[in-house]
Amino acid sequence: MSSYEQFVIPEKFRKPEGVTGQVKVGIAGGAGFIGSHLGKRLKAAGFYVKVADWVKNEFMQNDEFCDEFHLVDCRRADACDILCKDCLYVLNLAADMGGMGFIESNQSVLMFNNTMITFNVLEAARKAGVKRFFYASSACVYNELVQDTPENPGLKESDAWPAQPQDTYGLEKLYAEEMAKAYQRDFDIQTRIARFHNVYGPHGTWKGGREKAPAAFCRKAIASTGELEMWGDGKQTRSFIFIEDCVDGVLRLLFSDLAEPINLGSDELISMNDFATMIMQFRKDGPLPIKHLEGPLGVRGRNSNNDFIKEKLGWAPSIPVKVGIEKTYRWIESQIEKEVAAGAKMTDYVSSKIVVQSTESLDKLNDAVPPTNGAYPSTNGKH
Ligand SMILES: NC(=O)c1ccc[n+]([C@@H]2O[C@H](COP(=O)([O-])OP(=O)(O)OC[C@H]3O[C@@H](n4cnc5c(N)ncnc54)[C@H](O)[C@@H]3O)[C@@H](O)[C@H]2O)c1
Repeated sequence: MSSYEQFVIPEKFRKPEGVTGQVKVGIAGGAGFIGSHLGKRLKAAGFYVKVADWVKNEFMQNDEFCDEFHLVDCRRADACDILCKDCLYVLNLAADMGGMGFIESNQSVLMFNNTMITFNVLEAARKAGVKRFFYASSACVYNELVQDTPENPGLKESDAWPAQPQDTYGLEKLYAEEMAKAYQRDFDIQTRIARFHNVYGPHGTWKGGREKAPAAFCRKAIASTGELEMWGDGKQTRSFIFIEDCVDGVLRLLFSDLAEPINLGSDELISMNDFATMIMQFRKDGPLPIKHLEGPLGVRGRNSNNDFIKEKLGWAPSIPVKVGIEKTYRWIESQIEKEVAAGAKMTDYVSSKIVVQSTESLDKLNDAVPPTNGAYPSTNGKH
């Protein structure tokens, strides 16, 4: 089946027996990139969507992706209780995260913040009697020893154990998977886990230091003149899943019987040199030479093996990277045009930053107003 045919959520989940009125779905981190796209889709399918996030969405109004927005800190149990109250389904998309320039230089803070979110959202869901729970895991859980060459044949779900993720970000995800599995074994809650492989698309972070390679390459291809800057020799490989495939996959999984973690990624492997060159084809003046710089890189080669998802869900992501990245490029181009019209300079966009560690979010754990953790736009505590 082509991924262009959107999944239709079965009626028994949209209108379950004994539930009157709209079914409520909670999304932790629902103002984020993937969370907001999911919220939009669930709202369109007739659900009542509750979102909890410690910032507002930068690109959309609340009512575009949810019915109820709570500006709260999901590291706190009371905030997660507010989210999960009356929800039949809960999805945890909240995480303090970013690209390699962020996760490699912020390990302690990310471990604390993400562990707290993981514990509290899942436990609040159990307490509230939530029936189905989705956890957003990552390809970062995989053992680094099977990702040390560019010719990665595709990571199978079983490659996560024995565990040796490259970063503590991945280790925390792996622990969170086990916690979700244990809750399903011990309590009346169905838990579903997807390991995302590099999700990209419009409405994702594209500047500031938390953005990932697809958005960074698009931004640089639009703004650079002489050369395009890239961290590493460009021979490292990855696969990239477009946001529409990702949202479809999450919903297919959430409403399936599959309780084991699955890959949610494309199996179209591409080197960073080829990817940047593909993106630069969208420039009016054609591709620029690539200038290779030292920087944080992650593993040498990573691809998704999709045998398990095909076997269990009869579906796999299929939107070609060339199609998805052109949509992303055009959207980033429109963002840059707006900012330049407001006074920004094209030269602001040609390099990637490494975000240095800040303890701001740790120091503000018990504050009434959620911290914005420095890299996020300030919301001034407005709801
Ligand atoms: N985008 C990817 O390529 C990718 C790959 C692997 C895994 N993931 C996982 O998918 C999930 C969603 O990722 P995304 O790309 O949408 O990232 P994102 O940063 O756009 O979204 C995460 C959201 O969580 C929110 N958040 C963080 N800490 C919070 C807190 N304490 N309280 C409330 N909200 C908080 C952020 O404000 C943000 O809106 C994350 O768990 C991430 O680890 C993403």
